[in-house]
Amino acid sequence: MRFSAFSVCALAGLSAAGPLGDLNRRADVVSLLTDLYANVQVYTGAINATLETLSPSSSVIEKTAALPQVGEAFNSINTAIKDTTSSISELTPEDAPAEPEKRSVGVVAHPVEKRQVDTATVLLTLIIIEVVATIAGAIAIFGVAALLIYINPVTGSLAALILAVQLILNVVLSSVTILLNTLLAGLALTIGGLGA
Ligand SMILES: *[C@@H]1O[C@H](CO)[C@@H](O)[C@H](O)[C@H]1NC(C)=O
Repeated sequence: MRFSAFSVCALAGLSAAGPLGDLNRRADVVSLLTDLYANVQVYTGAINATLETLSPSSSVIEKTAALPQVGEAFNSINTAIKDTTSSISELTPEDAPAEPEKRSVGVVAHPVEKRQVDTATVLLTLIIIEVVATIAGAIAIFGVAALLIYINPVTGSLAALILAVQLILNVVLSSVTILLNTLLAGLALTIGGLGA
């Protein structure tokens, strides 16, 4: 499944439309996620390029030689996700609602606010699909066992990223969490390797 970068840019552009100071932290979340999506694609592109030189029937020697490169790129993805999560957490708003109770996206009253949440949701969705699809491609070549050490941190940091976005936007992004769980379950993986 592929989403066009254009539609992401178009959606991300919406964040610039929020003139209210109250919405700045949400715009920041959107720009941080936009940057992350771009960064992640650099590393998934590198992984894909390496995978293209291999097939499931490549020799063990060829695969063993390529694995460190792929692993390093997954480590870079993990670092990028964690850095973004830290940046998002640092946005901790002084203007947070007095009662930080969670609410579902469906009941966000302000249309601009809802649009920011929608944009963040789309970006998280794109990031998750990009990373998990690339993990799936790597598993097809190397098998799960050889990759767990690299991909467990990535799935754990994706889950932490979702939590950070939920906290800062004060919404529950259950569709995104379900997507991550479902895609990982399809690969017989779990978040952060828990229970694996
Ligand atoms: C890498 O490959 C995966 C799986 O085919 C694909 O979903 C993803 O978009 C690709 N990414 C890049 C940057 O080529």
